[in-house]
Amino acid sequence: MPKAMYPGTFDPITYGHIDVARRAAKAFGSLVVVVMQNRVKKGVLFDIKERCSMIEDVFKQDDHITVDFHSGLMVEYAKEKKIKVVIRGLRAVSDFEYEMQMAAANKKLFTELDTFFLMTDTKYSFISSSLVKEIAFHGSSVDPWVPEVVKEKLKDKLNTKK
Ligand code: COA
Repeated sequence: MPKAMYPGTFDPITYGHIDVARRAAKAFGSLVVVVMQNRVKKGVLFDIKERCSMIEDVFKQDDHITVDFHSGLMVEYAKEKKIKVVIRGLRAVSDFEYEMQMAAANKKLFTELDTFFLMTDTKYSFISSSLVKEIAFHGSSVDPWVPEVVKEKLKDKLNTKK
């Protein structure tokens, strides 16, 4: 069973997320990346299966990283899988308030669960999945922020949407 979980929407996964996941897996020994459904998030481009498949491809050489999905609360997943560590990345001070609220709510719902924050590599501290989608949509290169598999899927998806 993985020691830690890294939940997120990952629509799509970026190098910022990948860096956080690899560092967390190294620190905690094993990690499951959990693709979640954020009810309030609008404009999701990839369905859960597509997001999982890209992430599996990205981490196919990383023995200690697995991929899963969940459509309820992250604490439910943690309880079910007996995971007591949640990993979240912090890009800037602006992430802090939302993350603090979420960590506090999760603690209340499942007292054994602790949230650990990793600072996102400064190279990626300004990017988000939405920004990547916006840049790709307008035909500019997203090479610095996403791996080849994501770049190709973005191209296919955006071509069918145009
Ligand atoms: N590098 C690059 N981008 C990063 C990043 C990093 N290290 N860390 C975060 N981001 C970006 C993401 O790309 C994403 O960008 P977007 O908003 O443009 O899509 C944004 O920051 C938010 O990231 P993410 O980590 O995916 O969080 P989220 O708010 O989309 O999802 C969950 C968080 C898992 C809590 C949400 O999916 C959810 O609602 N889950 C179910 C309900 C639940 O359990 N809620 C908590 C208890 S109250």
